[in-house]
Amino acid sequence: MVRSSFILTKFASIVILGSMILFLDPQVSAQNKIQLSIDTAKPGPKIDRNIFGQFAEHLGYGVYEGIWVGSDSKTPNTRGIRNDVVAALKALKVPNVRWPGGCFADEYHWRKGIGSRAVTLNPNWGGVVEPNTFGTHEFMDFIDQIGSQAYLSINVGSGTPQEAAEWLEYLTTPLPTTLQKERAANGHPAPYQIPMLGIGNESWDCGGNMTPEYYLRQLTIYSRFVRNFNPAQQGDQQMMKIAVGPGGGEARWTEWTDTIMKAWEKRQWSWDMQGLSMHNYTVINWGNKFASVGFGEKEYSQILKETLKMEDLVTRHAAIMDKYDPEKKIALVVDEWGSWYAPLPGSNPGFLVQQNSMRDAILAALNLNVFARHAERVRGANIAQMINVLQAMIMTDKEKMVLTPTYHVFKMYVPFQDATLIPVTFNAGTYTNGDITLPGVDAIAAKDTSGKLWLELTNVDPTNAVEIEVSLTGSNANSATGETLTASKVDSVNTFDAPDAVKPRSVSARAQNGKLTIKLDPKSVSVVSIS
Ligand code: AHR
Repeated sequence: MVRSSFILTKFASIVILGSMILFLDPQVSAQNKIQLSIDTAKPGPKIDRNIFGQFAEHLGYGVYEGIWVGSDSKTPNTRGIRNDVVAALKALKVPNVRWPGGCFADEYHWRKGIGSRAVTLNPNWGGVVEPNTFGTHEFMDFIDQIGSQAYLSINVGSGTPQEAAEWLEYLTTPLPTTLQKERAANGHPAPYQIPMLGIGNESWDCGGNMTPEYYLRQLTIYSRFVRNFNPAQQGDQQMMKIAVGPGGGEARWTEWTDTIMKAWEKRQWSWDMQGLSMHNYTVINWGNKFASVGFGEKEYSQILKETLKMEDLVTRHAAIMDKYDPEKKIALVVDEWGSWYAPLPGSNPGFLVQQNSMRDAILAALNLNVFARHAERVRGANIAQMINVLQAMIMTDKEKMVLTPTYHVFKMYVPFQDATLIPVTFNAGTYTNGDITLPGVDAIAAKDTSGKLWLELTNVDPTNAVEIEVSLTGSNANSATGETLTASKVDSVNTFDAPDAVKPRSVSARAQNGKLTIKLDPKSVSVVSIS
């Protein structure tokens, strides 16, 4: 399988520093040697940092326990927000956090989460009580503490345009309106910035069972009245309004994208949008989902085959968008993606608690690479979800916290935020298990904003190491340094008792005799900078 990817120059043997051995290894067979070339003279589009976005829904322990413990908690916190989680997320340079849902968003009424709180219910997720102690101000404080930005989802399903418009006025106006004064009385006189706004969530399903035409009417009305008044967010800095988009590969989603984009092409001055959402989870059999722990190579290969469908989905919907928007003004925002497995035994099934393994690390890298290769159109993505829910970065249990393999992948990919994609060419080879054959290797390359060249390499094969021989046109490479993430088994996980079972190790390689050779461990994700 031939892939576009990237790489390094002409030097020959490799010196390994750190714990990963990058020498030519007699155990690497000839068929597991891959040539990879990178052409730095042909820079591609910017990889928008927003493809590394997160999603925090009021669902299970995602917000309560995961972020919010309250200021009188024994867990160290700042104004009720746990310090350990904030420190871990800061290291990811999270570009945006989508909140408050998900399905929850279309039943959320923002006034219940400011001032004196109303205790309500969360019928979507476990039917539990929603205390509303984490509301608008707490979310904005959290965003501020982790150094991120807000991606709000407004309630289209059970709300009104007036309610949504007032939320935006409350958040963003600098002028002394009644809502501004209320915001000031609640502790924040200055207007907030809201760079991204989702107009509904899955309006074809939990967001209100709307047809494409019915949703389009809602979109045009909400888009007209929901305004961002922050002076810092006018003109070029305007808030992105993101319409509900497709939710999978079936024909009905083609119709959905077509309806919205066709209307946008013929839009009047009075409404607009800047993004179209897409949701796509990696799940096999919604009625009897795969386990997140205790699986073998069969389930590993099945899930990775399923996750690679993201490429086709993005390609197909990007093609529909191209028909109406050849200049690519509208971003495709994959604002829910990731693995969805069976709930862990003993957990509330409505809380979507699952473990996160080495398989999820590979899955994350493969999806991020799809988004990067489609950087011209995919300018936002939010993995579901940030803490304690689905494919999480972080898991918590009271005062304990553990970082997942997916967290480590996101951290390793930080240099790719806003970097310039550099084309890479390589023959990916194959990895076969039973009747499943997948590309054996995946890779992307990019130059960061300081001009440094970065290379990501994923070895999908869980058994065989691969040697990558890198050549770089137009300049030389002397060495590579970075990190690699692998584990003893495909289902290796981090737990509160063994938090470092899956943890990156440093690697470095020096090129000699014109070639740079990097050995990839089986089932590994590696990111190196080349100098
Ligand atoms: O992420 C869990 C749920 O999945 C979200 O609430 C919903 O939008 C999607 O169906």
